[in-house]
Amino acid sequence: MSPLLTSGGANRFARRVCNRACILERRTYRCAAVAPSNIITLSTERKRVVITGCTRGLGRALVEGFANRGDLVAACGRSQKSLRALARELGPGHHLFQADVTDDAAVASFRDRVIEEIGVPNLVLNNAAIINRSAPIWEVPPEEFDELMRINVGGTASVLRHFLPPMIEAGESAVIVNFSSGWGRSTAPEVAPYCASKWAIEGLTQAVAQEVPPFIGVVALNPGIIHTEMLESCFGRGAANYPDPEDWARAAVPFLANLRPSDNGKALTSP
Ligand SMILES: NC(=O)c1ccc[n+]([C@@H]2O[C@H](COP(=O)([O-])OP(=O)(O)OC[C@H]3O[C@@H](n4cnc5c(N)ncnc54)[C@H](OP(=O)(O)O)[C@@H]3O)[C@@H](O)[C@H]2O)c1
Repeated sequence: MSPLLTSGGANRFARRVCNRACILERRTYRCAAVAPSNIITLSTERKRVVITGCTRGLGRALVEGFANRGDLVAACGRSQKSLRALARELGPGHHLFQADVTDDAAVASFRDRVIEEIGVPNLVLNNAAIINRSAPIWEVPPEEFDELMRINVGGTASVLRHFLPPMIEAGESAVIVNFSSGWGRSTAPEVAPYCASKWAIEGLTQAVAQEVPPFIGVVALNPGIIHTEMLESCFGRGAANYPDPEDWARAAVPFLANLRPSDNGKALTSP
């Protein structure tokens, strides 16, 4: 992974892990609060938020939205230039890393740096994704199909693989949001690879929701329809009829911040 791009102000998170063991379905977890999921509440302190795919679109608007709320943000994307521009814009205490979510080792390093800089996250937004060039499936080259699956499904799985163990070990209430789509619950022509990947996200989310302890919630999110580069790719000029990411984030950020472990397994839609 490339060197840290940071807007400064390293923070340490004092982990509050007690030694009590919580036995759940033959798995053993160390829990900060051993209690039924419906009475565990997220801390009202600053959140420690991880966002993938932060260089533009919804990811970028989420970084800005959470940073403006006073939360600690650590985010990744691929474009070094965009990361530098975003780092300059953010205040101190937020951390941007160049990491490709398809590179499992890079995601592991990203996880290590995140924990070093802001602590174990209590909100992870699995946002990074691409869409295929609009075309019927027989015109989508296998390389394009495979790359899309590697990013949209494999990248999400990689983040789950590397972030869940320390989150379980920390024993603190936390939520992971896997970005789905309206096309993760319905379909349309010419975006079959994208639809397939987002239906996979819904299934992945439901299955992982059955694996996590009750102090962690894993949900799928349809963010709605927002004017981003991705939308332009499939809606053309019609994309301009939809809200900008910044407008979307005004309602989406408090909605995401208020998710609870008790939401585990839900297929949600952003306001
Ligand atoms: N916009 C909509 O209307 C809409 C509707 C339904 C669902 N969604 C979902 O919402 C999420 C965000 O979409 P968006 O519209 O904001 O898309 P976007 O404008 O195309 O932005 C996608 C972001 O993902 C990053 N990314 C792509 N591949 C990556 C990789 N391999 N590793 C790390 N980062 C990567 C991109 O940055 P780099 O290229 O710099 O890496 C970019 O920052 C996606 O999951 C999308 O499927 C969007």
